[in-house]
Amino acid sequence: MTISPVLSSLARRLEGKVALITGGASGIGESTAKLFARHGAKVVVADIQNEKGQQVCREIVDQGGAASFIRCDVTVEDDVQAAVETAVKSNSRLDIMFNNAGIIIPSKPITEIGKSDAERQLAVNVIGVLMGIKHAGRAMAATGSGSIINTASVASISGGITVSPYTASKHAVVGLTKDAAVDLGRHGVRVNCISPYLLPTPLACNGLGITAETVDVAVKKSSVLKVSPLKAEDIAHAALYLASDESRYVNGHNLVVDGGYTITNPSMGEHIERS
Ligand SMILES: NC(=O)c1ccc[n+]([C@@H]2O[C@H](COP(=O)([O-])OP(=O)(O)OC[C@H]3O[C@@H](n4cnc5c(N)ncnc54)[C@H](O)[C@@H]3O)[C@@H](O)[C@H]2O)c1
Repeated sequence: MTISPVLSSLARRLEGKVALITGGASGIGESTAKLFARHGAKVVVADIQNEKGQQVCREIVDQGGAASFIRCDVTVEDDVQAAVETAVKSNSRLDIMFNNAGIIIPSKPITEIGKSDAERQLAVNVIGVLMGIKHAGRAMAATGSGSIINTASVASISGGITVSPYTASKHAVVGLTKDAAVDLGRHGVRVNCISPYLLPTPLACNGLGITAETVDVAVKKSSVLKVSPLKAEDIAHAALYLASDESRYVNGHNLVVDGGYTITNPSMGEHIERS
């Protein structure tokens, strides 16, 4: 993906805005960092993968965008606070916070799940998001505007898709989003989340123990919408909408990007025998 040259300043939907993206070193976060930069945002990539995060920033800068990296473990509150402070310093404000960092623990039946695995799952996917909302929310409330976007999942709607602590964590992200939307809405700050269907990032491939090609085949077979499989860029575009002023009255929303997967249950149809 190339940065700004082809986009005029009129077409750049985040011109002059500052965006902090957790989990920005890979997958959805990386794509979003690049798209936001292309749309004129100053991007701060926050991640535990130093080299990958720095590489993403170098690629953005090489393409004429603005980006910097900060190491941040979202389970460490001081790290999250420091990342927000760094982003604010770059332009005396924070406009966009994308709480996107996430993990998935190895798949197991609920009767086999270890407590420490479950705690790790919730620490990153729930407490990490909560701390991001807390510190970004403070900074944004002080300026009376801002957009916070959290990454949930189709597992925020349906059960049985993945390992249960992950499902619980993504249901919790929707709850946090709604609560924060009310709390921060009174300060002019919007809070929304995005629920992607399956796409072939390291999280999904490692979590499921399958290759990117196998993910694409599974998505193709199970999808309702028969188009080419979901890509990280599709989620980046959903985030761009929620980050931009075009969504200025959208608050507390779970933007589901699943091609209609969660609106139907094909299981009965599959079991009806036709003569
Ligand atoms: N890939 C999918 O199929 C899918 C579907 C629905 C939702 N999601 C969600 O999308 C989000 C992004 O995941 P992805 O699919 O792009 O995977 P990914 O593995 O490409 O990216 C996740 C990033 O989060 C970072 N990260 C992990 N733990 C962290 C921590 N403690 N602090 C800071 N950064 C941390 C990783 O280093 C990595 O760069 C996650 O919240 C995930 O649950 C993914």
